[in-house]
Amino acid sequence: MEKKELMYEGKAKKVYTTEDPAYCVVSYKDDATAFNGEKKGTIVGKGVVNNRMSNFMFRLLEEKGVPTDFVEELNDRDTVLKRVEIVPLEVIVRNKAAGSFSKRFGVPEGTQFKAPTLEYCLKDDALGDPMINDSQIIAIGAATKEELDTIAKYTMKVNEVMVEFFKTCNVDLIDFKIEFGRLPDGTIILADEISPDTCRFWDMDTQEKLDKDRFRRDMGGVEEAYAEMMKRVGLDK
Ligand code: TMP
Repeated sequence: MEKKELMYEGKAKKVYTTEDPAYCVVSYKDDATAFNGEKKGTIVGKGVVNNRMSNFMFRLLEEKGVPTDFVEELNDRDTVLKRVEIVPLEVIVRNKAAGSFSKRFGVPEGTQFKAPTLEYCLKDDALGDPMINDSQIIAIGAATKEELDTIAKYTMKVNEVMVEFFKTCNVDLIDFKIEFGRLPDGTIILADEISPDTCRFWDMDTQEKLDKDRFRRDMGGVEEAYAEMMKRVGLDK
C-alpha cells in the first residue's frame, strides 16, 4: 500500500490516504511540541524511534489480546494503519506519581501508588485537553458507557503488558497516554502511538529519565534518551 494524499498533519505525524479507504499511512516526523504546542523543537531521529517502538508495542499488545490499528511497517518512518474514527479522549494510566498528577495533588514525583490510576482528558487543543470523568464523557457523548468499559478494560491490560515488558528492559513505566479508535462497525481498537513521546520511562536503577520529559524540561540529552530506549527495547540492530 502507498501514500496518496495528505489527509491530516498533526504536531508529530502526518496521515495520508491510500488506494483503499479502509487504510491510511502514518508518517512520523522529528517535530516535537509541549505544553499544547507552546514549546516547539526538533528531536533528530525521533520519528524513526517512535514509529518502530510503537509498532513493536502494538504487535506485542495484539499478541496479548488487545486489538490495534497496526497493519504493516512500510519503512523507518511510515506505517499502514486501519482507518478509524478517533475517540476524543486521552487515556492516562499512572503507576507512580509524576508530571501533572504531582502538581495537581502535591504528591512527590516517584511516589509508588497502591494501585494504578486511570484518568481521561478530553482531546481538544482549544480547551487545553481538560480532565474529564466517566459521567461527563457519557453526558457529552464523547464515548458511550459500553465503549468506556471496553476502553478501561483494554487500558488496564495495556498497562499490565507494558509494565512487565519494560521491566525486562530495566525500565520503570511511570505513566503513559493512549488513544482509541472506532472501526466503521463500531469496534473499539487501540490507535495513535506508544513511544517516549507518550510514556514516562525511568531507568530502574538510576531513575534517569529516558523520555520526552527531557525535552519538556530542557534537560538535554534528548536524542540520546530516545536512542537509549530503542536499544533497551532491542530495536537498534
Ligand atoms: P502528565 O503528567 O503531563 O499529565 O502526562 C501523563 C502522561 O501522558 C505522560 O506519560 C506524558 C503523556 N502525555 C502525552 O502523551 N501527551 C500530552 O499531551 C500530555 C500532556 C501528556
